[in-house]
Amino acid sequence: MVQKTLKCSTCGNTLTLEVSTQEPTYATCPKCHTRAVYRPPPLVTKYTLQSSMETLQVTNVTKFYKAFKAVDDVSFSVKKGEIFGFLGPNGAGKTTTIKCILDLIHADKGMISVKGFDTRKEGKKAKQFIGYLPEKVAFYDNLTALQNLHFYAEMKQLPKEQCASLISLVGLEDVGQKKVGEFSKGMQQRLGMARAMLGSPSLLILDEPTNGLDARGVVLIREQIKQFRDKGVTIFLSSHILSEVQAVCDRVAIINKGRIVAQDTVDALRMRLQLKPKIVLELQEVTKEMIDAVEKLDGVDAVNVIGKMVHVMCKPYVKAQVIVTLTQKGAKIDNLHIMEPSLEEVFMKFTEETV
Ligand SMILES: Nc1ncnc2c1ncn2[C@@H]1O[C@H](COP(=O)(O)OP(=O)(O)OP(=O)(O)O)[C@@H](O)[C@H]1O
Ligand SMILES: [Mg+2]
Repeated sequence: MVQKTLKCSTCGNTLTLEVSTQEPTYATCPKCHTRAVYRPPPLVTKYTLQSSMETLQVTNVTKFYKAFKAVDDVSFSVKKGEIFGFLGPNGAGKTTTIKCILDLIHADKGMISVKGFDTRKEGKKAKQFIGYLPEKVAFYDNLTALQNLHFYAEMKQLPKEQCASLISLVGLEDVGQKKVGEFSKGMQQRLGMARAMLGSPSLLILDEPTNGLDARGVVLIREQIKQFRDKGVTIFLSSHILSEVQAVCDRVAIINKGRIVAQDTVDALRMRLQLKPKIVLELQEVTKEMIDAVEKLDGVDAVNVIGKMVHVMCKPYVKAQVIVTLTQKGAKIDNLHIMEPSLEEVFMKFTEETV
């Protein structure tokens, strides 16, 4: 129990009450006799994270930078426990939307709520559920990883004890005492993930978490994201890399030029798009018979020959058939690779559909 001085919402009378920090406390105003309830602010503990409803709701959000509309009537919701991908090319409005969610900048229109708390009106309450990895992580170079985390824990008025375990959680235990100035980009990014996890947030907002990382770094961060999800953390992941989003996300919203152009599960989007891969083959010798046979296959849209290189644009299910047919016609394949549809193609497709 703690003592609180509260104001009656009906008559404005101030009264001092002993209230519980865990449960609602009911009281009657001695002046106007209104029965009222004091609800303690939610505690960011494992118990509350697992037991309360977890949702991010963005409704009709619009943001202008002077006359330029960077975010245009954006709506989506993130369900408890899912990994939600926010996919868009450079300049689409991803970071601007995230900054609105965090109330770092104010949306001109619309509403955003985190676990039912309006981020404008009840920003403090909403923010205590959020962990944030910014687009550009920055730390104090002359402090060690652990000292940096201690600093941020202090700023958030959180116990320092969790810092060491967070450092281990992101695989930096061997370099926890090393100055961050000596860290590689990937190490800094992982430290950024640890900082975002301070206070056990139930909603983790990651703005381009694998930006600038090598293949190994990408895999490590991806695994980290899945681990957090397995711990019950809801994840909002912004990216311009389609493969990254496909690999981890349950649902996706695609933003282009400030507008949401599609929103669905990853599989449903893939089905809807019916994007075609391109097979690029290097043959020892190319004959007309081989090309004719491939062109006749059901599902092949185009075949282009450039010297000994054969480019085949086809539906996904016919890829193997193309290779078999060429081999049957005597082709000797020196090299082969499949170019999966690029993000640009996805956007062009969606833009075509929505204009
Ligand atoms: N502070 C600002 N003042 C004016 N315009 C801005 C500002 N910040 C962003 N913009 C513009 O708003 C648009 C959206 O930018 P935003 O940073 O949200 O894109 P993004 O999707 O995060 O892109 P990226 O993938 O490059 O990070 C861009 O056209 C950008 O130039
Ligand atoms: Mg951005």
